[in-house]
Amino acid sequence: VSILVTGAAGFVGVNLVRSLLLSGHDVVAFDKLGDGRHEHLRPFKGNPSFRFAQVDLVDVDAFRLALDAAHRRAAVTEVWHLAANSDIPAGISDPAVDHRDTFLTTFNTLILMKEFSIPAIAFASSSAVYGDHGAKVLTEDTGPLFPISNYGAMKLASEAIISAAVESFLEHAWLFRFPNVIGVPATHGVILDFVRKLKANPSVLTVLGDGTQQKGYLHVDELVDAMLFVRERATEPLNCFNVGSADEGVTVRFIAETVRDAVNPNAQIQYGLGSKGWVGDVPRFVYSIERLVALGWKPSMGSAEALRLAVRQIVKQEV
Ligand SMILES: NC(=O)c1ccc[n+]([C@@H]2O[C@H](COP(=O)([O-])OP(=O)(O)OC[C@H]3O[C@@H](n4cnc5c(N)ncnc54)[C@H](O)[C@@H]3O)[C@@H](O)[C@H]2O)c1
Repeated sequence: VSILVTGAAGFVGVNLVRSLLLSGHDVVAFDKLGDGRHEHLRPFKGNPSFRFAQVDLVDVDAFRLALDAAHRRAAVTEVWHLAANSDIPAGISDPAVDHRDTFLTTFNTLILMKEFSIPAIAFASSSAVYGDHGAKVLTEDTGPLFPISNYGAMKLASEAIISAAVESFLEHAWLFRFPNVIGVPATHGVILDFVRKLKANPSVLTVLGDGTQQKGYLHVDELVDAMLFVRERATEPLNCFNVGSADEGVTVRFIAETVRDAVNPNAQIQYGLGSKGWVGDVPRFVYSIERLVALGWKPSMGSAEALRLAVRQIVKQEV
């Protein structure tokens, strides 16, 4: 048997594939190689338990062909659906982006899981499904869910069709709502932006917004660990978990200063106005991971520690 990972060449995908292989699974990896890169998968080349196909999941016929080929080799019994647009601002200027890569990829995944009788899905959802609840602590039961980005809207729509599929044919689904995940190989995100900006112009780092936005950050090693833990222990047909840091997070100012100190301690940081970085950005939220803690998993790093580690790793990646 094998596990299909979609979006496998992306940031989280690569780390998940590594862990699945290490724990002895056969992995089939699909990615259209949009934001994800082929070179990210190089470490798995030659591993007989690993196979990769470049496929755009929006093209259901191509997806079916690739899945059929994989299925013939070793029955696919579970899908980890990570493929999505990860550029939230891009989805705000063109709503088609998230409709296609964030929603239709999920829709087509479910269509084919039904066709191939694949009973279980783990889904990379997002804190963006919650929308902006101000200072309220976000638990899995927080509502109403009114996302403020197309990305969040299409993640919520994806959760909704997964929930409906559980009612009709799936045996198990795990919805993982994660906030900001950091580490390498970084394909997007605030640390990568800052590192690249500062390398291009070492004297000044310009920051969108006033630097007071505050969020929790989780290192990707811990995210993958948490997801695999939940996958083993949460046994309801539909399982939904916030996965995040256990603290109140760090500010953009802290991130900017950490990047500055790592790249060029003499650089000046210039802040913009307002607490929002861009339209659709939730400026501040507090995440509850009580459900995850009750199941027995806690992050070992706080946001600040995860941040410092990821900055070191990303600075190294970008040489
Ligand atoms: N990184 C985070 O902070 C974060 C936070 C919340 C949720 N998520 C979710 O986790 C998942 C992984 O995110 P990531 O940070 O690794 O992003 P990423 O962009 O590095 O990875 C996503 C991968 O999906 C692929 N992809 C996109 N559209 C596709 C399509 N139509 N067909 C096939 N492949 C396609 C991309 O090429 C990319 O490799 C995504 O679903 C993302 O929405 C990430």
